[in-house]
Parts: sequence; structure tokens; C-alpha cells
Amino acid sequence: MTGPPAPPWALLAELTHGCPLRCPYCSNPLELVGRSHELSTEEWEDVLWQAAELGVVHTHLSGGEPLLRRDLAAIVAAAEGAGIYTQLVTSGNGLSASRLSALVSAGLRSVQLSVQHADPVASDRIAGHRSFSAKERAAAVVRDAELPLGLNVVLHRDNLDAVDAIVDLGVAWGAERIELANAQFYGWALRNRTTLLPTRDQLSRASEVVERRRKQLAGTTELVWVVPDYFDGVPKPCMGGWGAVSLTVAPDGRVLPCPAAGTLPDLDIPNVRDRSLEWIWRSSPAFERYRGTEWMTGPCTDCPRRETDFGGCRCQAHALTGDASRTDPACALSPDHALVRALAEVPPPDDPESADAPRYVYRGARPEPRERATD
Ligand code: SF4
Ligand code: FES
Repeated sequence: MTGPPAPPWALLAELTHGCPLRCPYCSNPLELVGRSHELSTEEWEDVLWQAAELGVVHTHLSGGEPLLRRDLAAIVAAAEGAGIYTQLVTSGNGLSASRLSALVSAGLRSVQLSVQHADPVASDRIAGHRSFSAKERAAAVVRDAELPLGLNVVLHRDNLDAVDAIVDLGVAWGAERIELANAQFYGWALRNRTTLLPTRDQLSRASEVVERRRKQLAGTTELVWVVPDYFDGVPKPCMGGWGAVSLTVAPDGRVLPCPAAGTLPDLDIPNVRDRSLEWIWRSSPAFERYRGTEWMTGPCTDCPRRETDFGGCRCQAHALTGDASRTDPACALSPDHALVRALAEVPPPDDPESADAPRYVYRGARPEPRERATD
């Protein structure tokens, strides 16, 4: 890459990998960072100040479940003090009125709430935890605090046919923005790919619903539809390009160009415990590795879209071909595209309630819940 990189504007702060939910599409790694290895309050404060000096103006406080951090208000206050806009990304479990009030006093600006389905039973089954009623209460608490609320729904075979109802739920809960993101297959999600992959018919029906609801809700609720790249032959510009606009700090201080980059075996991942954020962003081999277009191989080399999608997703290229430097197989021009086409040809969805329905592989050994939430 010639010249220094432009400054990043966004920081994904993964405060903890701890989480009460066990979503089968979790993109966090198979091996989670233990609580005893997490950055301390002071270390996060330092990271946020360094990030602001580097140019970051927006942070997602995420996890896992960031509410598990007792020092969350202090971390929010550090971001606010450094001039960084904070959005809490949460399952809603543990978000009481008093907890939110403390976070708002510290400077929290908005909340993004994850929901698995519009139906409580299905939502709890997908989450692997009785959590729907806590989410409903959390949405009410955010609305009462007059904070902007976003709903974040990962879509897959088990909930794509409920998109209409999910949008209704978001509107009823007072969401200003509903992000409908088709599942991506990194980390734990790879274990459940066969069970989660939708059919083309499901996707096309859901896409029509989103178009119709978008027109209906124009000016009141924003609907964001993140297309599944396995199906349309067009790779996504993952993270807006490697080391181009954002960075991720993992719970143990490793700094990554994308949340899944820890899965790449030969990346020398830097850590804020050893190096400054500025050096990591500007000069570390991990961030330089796939920055820009000079690293590209195969059809990307002289493709007119190379500055648009940056060759797609490095982690997906590695997951499917074992080589992160290859053209993303999601691209129809990739010599490996047949791998993605074969995966996208899956049987029609089974009834998730039937006895022989495919079962999710959850983290941990607890059995899959089948009962309605009662908490
Ligand atoms: Fe993007 Fe490379 Fe495919 Fe061109 S060949 S569309 S740059 S992934
Ligand atoms: Fe890592 Fe796409 S998820 S580059």
C-alpha cells in the first residue's frame, strides 16, 4: 500500500465473550476468551482514548453480552469523554431501567437489541436460552429512556419466513431501525451452516416482503436488508475493505481488521497490551496484509469491481478454500465459486418443531430448549 492509510472511523469493542445466549449463528470463535483474560477498565479507557486520537468517532460496545461487564458505565464514560459516539449492542438480558439510566448518565447514545424471531417460543429455541421476555422488557426500557432503538435480527432458514412478523414486532417495540442481516458463516456459525442455510425461494419471498414493508414504513422505520452473498454471486465489501474504515478490539486486547480475522492461521495478530493502536492501524503486518488491492490474485487483479468490494471477504475465502488470499468464492468470477453454489443447493426447510427436524449445535452441553419462555 502506498502512503499511510486513512484513519479509521469505527471501533467494534468486544468487551467480553461471556453471553447468556447460545445462538447457533454466533460469529465469535470456537475458543472464546475467558473472563480472567479480558482487558481491565483502565485498559479499555486507554484503548478508547487512543482510538479517538486515531480518528475513531463511533463505537459499538459489543460481545458476547457487554452488560456482563460491571464496569460498562465507566467504559461508556471514557468513550464519551474521548468524543466517541457509543451504541450498546445487547441481547437485552440484564438491561433494567436503573442499569440503562446509569449508562445514559455516562453518555450512552443508542441501543441495538438482538432478536431471534417474532414468536417467543421460536426466539428462545434459536437463542438457546429463555430470553424473549427480557428482550421485550429491555425494548420498553430503552423507549422510556427516549434513546434511539435498533433491532438486529440475523436471518436464516428458521426465521426468514417470519420477516413480516419480525418487522411488525420491531415497529410495536418502537425500533427506529430494523437490521435484517442474513447469516454469515464464520466462527461457531460454520458448525451450523447446513441447518441455517435458507433456500432461494425463502430468500426471494423475504426480499419481496422487505421491499413492500420498506415502502409502507418509509419515513418512520428504516429497514436494512443485508443480502446473503452465497446466493447472488456478488461478494460483499467486507468491513468496507480490510483495514480501511474500522477495527475490532477483542476481549483480550487483540486488534483485528474484522471480528473473524482470528480464524486466519498465519496472521500475526497484534495486541493493545503490547503496541499502540496507532502502530497497529498504520504499520502492523496484520492490517497491511490485505489492505488495498496490491495483495490481490486471480480474477480480482484487473477486475473493475476491485475498489468496490475489495475482493470480498478474506475470512470466507479462507473458510471455504483454506487460502485467505484467494478471490472470495461468493464471487461468480471466482474459480472456487462452485463451492458456494453447491452449498446453496440445500433441501427445503424442515418444520423446526417436528421430531426429526435438524437440531442446532449449541455451545456447551445443555439440551436444546423446546418450552415457552416463562421468565
Ligand atoms: Fe470483486 Fe474480485 Fe469478484 Fe471482481 S473478481 S467482483 S474484485 S471478488
Ligand atoms: Fe473477516 Fe470478512 S469477516 S474479512
